[in-house]
Amino acid sequence: MIFGRTFIIFIYFLFVLFFGLILRFSHIFSDFCETFHPPDNKQTYDYIIVGGGSAGSILANKLSRNGIDKVLVLEAGKNTIDLLSIPSISLLLQNSPYDWKYATVPQKNSCLGLNQNVSLWPMGKLLGGTSMLNNMLYVRGHKEDFNEWFKDKEDYYYSDVINYFKQIEDLLDVSDLAFSTELSDIVFNAAENLGYSILHCNYDSKLGFNKPKATLNKGKRWTSADSLKQLHRNNLVIRTSCLVEKILFRSNFEAYGVKFKFLNKNYEAFAQKAVILSAGVIGSPKILMLSGIGEKTHLEKLGIEPIVDLPVGNNLQDHLTTGLDLVLLDHSLNIGIEQMLSPFALLEYFLKGSGPLTTTGCEVMAFLNTTKTHTKPDIQFMIMPLGIKEDNGYYLRTLMGISDNVWSNYFAKIPHKSLTILPVLLHPKSRGTVRLASKNPLDQPLIDPQYLSDPRDVAVLIEGIELIKKLISTKEFKSFGAEFNQVIFPGCSNYIFDTKDYWECYIRHLTITAYHPIGTCRMGKTEDPTTVVDFNFQVKGTNKLYVVDGSVIPSLTSGNINGPILMLAGMAADALSKINYLSTKTCDFMDVFLRENICCV
Ligand SMILES: Cc1cc2nc3c(=O)[nH]c(=O)nc-3n(C[C@H](O)[C@H](O)[C@H](O)COP(=O)(O)OP(=O)(O)OC[C@H]3O[C@@H](n4cnc5c(N)ncnc54)[C@H](O)[C@@H]3O)c2cc1C
Ligand SMILES: *[C@@H]1O[C@H](CO)[C@@H](O)[C@H](O)[C@H]1NC(C)=O
Ligand SMILES: *[C@@H]1O[C@H](CO)[C@@H](O)[C@H](O)[C@H]1NC(C)=O
Repeated sequence: MIFGRTFIIFIYFLFVLFFGLILRFSHIFSDFCETFHPPDNKQTYDYIIVGGGSAGSILANKLSRNGIDKVLVLEAGKNTIDLLSIPSISLLLQNSPYDWKYATVPQKNSCLGLNQNVSLWPMGKLLGGTSMLNNMLYVRGHKEDFNEWFKDKEDYYYSDVINYFKQIEDLLDVSDLAFSTELSDIVFNAAENLGYSILHCNYDSKLGFNKPKATLNKGKRWTSADSLKQLHRNNLVIRTSCLVEKILFRSNFEAYGVKFKFLNKNYEAFAQKAVILSAGVIGSPKILMLSGIGEKTHLEKLGIEPIVDLPVGNNLQDHLTTGLDLVLLDHSLNIGIEQMLSPFALLEYFLKGSGPLTTTGCEVMAFLNTTKTHTKPDIQFMIMPLGIKEDNGYYLRTLMGISDNVWSNYFAKIPHKSLTILPVLLHPKSRGTVRLASKNPLDQPLIDPQYLSDPRDVAVLIEGIELIKKLISTKEFKSFGAEFNQVIFPGCSNYIFDTKDYWECYIRHLTITAYHPIGTCRMGKTEDPTTVVDFNFQVKGTNKLYVVDGSVIPSLTSGNINGPILMLAGMAADALSKINYLSTKTCDFMDVFLRENICCV
């Protein structure tokens, strides 16, 4: 070979460095351009939507559709540039100025193999939000998941949920993968021989193996913000670089606008119909708490005057995974750094919209159950043709915060190529919190998912690893040159390899987020003390204030969550446009009860 591996890695290293600089430069450049276009101050709209991410973009689209209602979208991040639509580029967006760069607090029972016992949580800080740096995999979720969300709702029909999904699928391009290796055939043959079903299309998380669908348009990343930007409606204003800090309230708990910063200057905007928070699972609870809506004792401790006492920031849940590089391979598949950096890949992408640059990472998905009692899956496999070892530890491992010790004593010791079968815990029992660190809107909040605090979560992940072993021991995988990784994980050498205790130790060390946090502004019936918004997405005890994004989801679905978030946004837009905003609620008994002795005018 003319180009040695070291040379390729060196080129890759330069590329990552160079691209990082481009991102930083483009960010500074848009700051500069924006100084010439300040937003209007103290202007009145019908709706103000805070956050132009997955959910916010759908809302803005639907609420401005009638051409009459004036809609303002305030997004803290920048506009996107076309370059960022190349699917595989998204990994480079993490830890860039287009990422909020959140991190959890040190975990007690998990993440022990990560720097500081901390899990890194990238989230998109740009138009398109986190859907600009996600893996684009599109799943609806299992019927039972939605029945669970809406079990207390009157006139709930699953068919409504499906109709909202269909609307999303009409708006967004959901297509087959534009690239795959020979891995998928091997997996399907192995799975079939083990008795699993192979499904051609599996939107609703049926048990079995399938090829995933992705939000791709001719090989390009396709987000809800893309379809928003194509509209040119006079009644729709989208402003970037506007960080919303606080909701403005009238005396009767009626939200009438927001306070925001644009390039360090204070601005206000007013809404006649509604203020809608779509700032994501961290952003939305943060704005609520900064505005005095949250647990009273927490707010008082920080010197924030409590307005409504609600369990904001509780019920935090996330999909967890583990098992990086557990499967070794004696040869490489036709994807890797070499292929990604090759000029042919670029040509193929720009000419045909296909090739390795369009990869979502994941080639095969599976939904599996580890107990007979479940009709819905409790484990999802995401099967990828590459391992984290692929780039010799230069970049990929830093995205997960894998510690030097773990890298040099585990991953660097693996003699082979690797592929990835991630077992994702679909229905975790552990619950965490998001709290403010201070009343300064610029401070990162305290995120504590309390990963694996419930031992049942560990048990399911161990079952997931057992399933991987079963798959790998099939003759299809054996003759493909795959074997199970036997290197002992640092910190777990006190346990006998491949016992339950060993795997528990392993999982508590290599605890990796699947990037699906939800639940911090839980939706449900008004009387339920654990809920923050009602089934109309309205923040309880307030008027004209709504939350619509991943934070309202009560419990995780059986699959990736961007689809369900987009579906909810479509549902919320319809609910919001049906409300008669002229009739401001008077202060009835229920309101007084919720607001705890606060006098209504
Ligand atoms: C690495 C990664 C991979 C993923 N892969 C997949 C996948 O393959 N499939 C899938 O279905 N899901 C995936 N997800 C999850 C999915 O993308 C997110 O759950 C989803 O995009 C969240 O949507 P949202 O509308 O709730 O929030 P977001 O899309 O994050 O939108 C929130 C928006 O609000 C803005 N904002 C926040 N605070 C403020 C403020 N104070 N003022 C103004 N604006 C503010 C943010 O900048 C952002 O644009 C992935 C996530 C990550 C991180
Ligand atoms: C991480 O966890 C280990 C093991 O429990 C502990 O010894 C260490 O102090 C923790 N580090 C931090 C920063 O919490
Ligand atoms: C998964 O569910 C199916 C159908 O409900 C059942 O037949 C099967 O035994 C379950 N699998 C396990 C591992 O329990």
